[in-house]
Amino acid sequence: MRTEVAKVSEIPDDRGLRVQIDKKFIALFKVEDKVYAINAICPHAGAFLDMGWLDEHAVICPLHGWDFDVRTGESPSFGIKTGCFEVDVEEDAVFVITEDPSPPEEEAPPEEEAPPEEEAPPEEDAPPEEDAPAAG
Ligand code: FES
Repeated sequence: MRTEVAKVSEIPDDRGLRVQIDKKFIALFKVEDKVYAINAICPHAGAFLDMGWLDEHAVICPLHGWDFDVRTGESPSFGIKTGCFEVDVEEDAVFVITEDPSPPEEEAPPEEEAPPEEEAPPEEDAPPEEDAPAAG
């Protein structure tokens, strides 16, 4: 899905700009006049990476200082990776292409319905106890 999210001129030079597509928060960064889009939520503890600062192509998380390459989403220092997105720029308009990185899980086949429990036959009325013959 290709979504126009911002103008290039809205992205600060040394920080990010947070945009939202559906429920995804995405941080846009501008490095050497190229725009990059990375998952805005830090995978460490959830800080907004757009509030971090840039060191060349690395954004430094404002909370604990982990660094993520805005081109790849990788954190070379910590060996983890966050999502990043393809970006198109047309004049001043920034478009982000979002696709789920992994295909949606195949839908599990519907669980077979358990056959209805057999209805227990109605309890037969116990035959009335015969009156004991009266003695004597
Ligand atoms: S929340 Fe980003 S490094 Fe901890």
